[in-house]
Amino acid sequence: MIKFNFNTSTLILTLVITCFTLNSQTLFAQKTTQLVNNDQCYLCHQELEILPKGFLEYDIHMQDGLSCAGCHGGDSKVEDEDIAMSTQKGFIGVPSKKQIPQFCGKCHSNIEFMRIYQPRISTDQVKQYYQSVHGELLLKGEDKVADCSSCHTAHGIISSKDPRSSVYPLNVPQTCRKCHSNSIYMRGYDIPTDHQTVGRL
Ligand code: HEC
Ligand code: HEC
Ligand code: HEC
Ligand code: HEC
Ligand code: HEC
Repeated sequence: MIKFNFNTSTLILTLVITCFTLNSQTLFAQKTTQLVNNDQCYLCHQELEILPKGFLEYDIHMQDGLSCAGCHGGDSKVEDEDIAMSTQKGFIGVPSKKQIPQFCGKCHSNIEFMRIYQPRISTDQVKQYYQSVHGELLLKGEDKVADCSSCHTAHGIISSKDPRSSVYPLNVPQTCRKCHSNSIYMRGYDIPTDHQTVGRL
């Protein structure tokens, strides 16, 4: 019988963990490389160093191959920018703040589409959004309120269960405070901007 002392088992455990981590990192990198190598939108923007600010390769949409064109429209298989980013190819460009809920809702309100990726994901965010104070005010033309990307970011979106996410429970107060604790930004509104109040929002 082989007898492990504490040090041997710790060593083995460390090795197993290291292999596992390396392996999943390699798989992760391979998947991303495969996706982006076929995506002309990403390739050209990367080469010209004009990837949007805050862009993260581990964005959940990128990981699923939805990529730039999934949100912005256009044809991700074409190298010529005038064709790739043409209205004929369905290019939408940069959405205005008022357009953002529907821009995200194109997929997120589509139950059949979303279930392909995540069987239990909820698909009522747009509806909920328009019932919130933010959504009601946005419809009235108030553009300082939070839209989907104020809380989720636009190019670094990850699952809300991931501790790096801007909407992971521990990070939510910070996400709301960007605006709600900024007395200059919130000037003109009749709500307090001290931390105590934000904690209760
Ligand atoms: C061959 C290079 C190239 C390809 C391919 C390309 N782009 Fe671009 N894209 C650019 C350049 C250069 C700009 C900035 C030029 C400008 O401001 O007019 C730009 C601008 C944009 C903008 C901002 C537009 C705006 O109104 O400010 C978006 C969004 C965008 N691209 C998305 C995409 C998407 C989605 C695809 C794929 C369907 C794509 N791009 C393919 C080069 C490219
Ligand atoms: C999940 C949807 C989504 C994906 C995927 C996405 N974008 Fe965007 N993008 C947005 C939204 C929303 C805005 C406007 C709000 C903002 O800028 O924060 C935007 C703004 C932009 C802008 C103009 C402002 C800026 O930050 O430069 C460019 C350029 C752009 N996107 C390019 C891209 C490219 C290139 C990709 C792929 C690498 C991409 N986007 C992927 C949602 C997306
Ligand atoms: C005021 C901030 C805020 C705005 C605005 C907002 N969200 Fe969220 N969102 C959150 C928070 C916080 C969570 C995580 C807690 C939860 O699931 O309710 C979340 C969760 C989500 C999830 C994950 C749900 C799941 O089942 O796991 C999706 C998808 C989502 N939001 C999409 C959107 C879309 C699309 C919009 C715009 C129509 C939007 N959100 C607007 C803060 C916001
Ligand atoms: C092309 C379709 C499409 C568009 C457009 C789109 N999404 Fe998504 N989004 C998805 C899919 C599919 C998933 C699920 C990916 C998965 O679980 O692997 C997802 C996942 C997410 C998640 C993570 C949900 C979780 O598991 O917690 C958030 C948050 C989110 N999207 C927000 C947005 C926001 C904000 C916008 C607009 C700026 C947007 N999405 C635009 C298709 C889309
Ligand atoms: C992009 C900036 C921005 C972000 C981010 C933001 N908000 Fe807001 N919020 C506003 C603005 C502007 C108003 C409008 C204030 C008013 O009408 O009095 C508002 C209004 C509200 C109100 C209604 C307050 C009232 O008494 O009328 C609540 C509640 C609220 N936000 C909660 C949140 C929460 C929770 C978060 C984070 C998950 C958040 N907000 C993130 C800008 C933001």
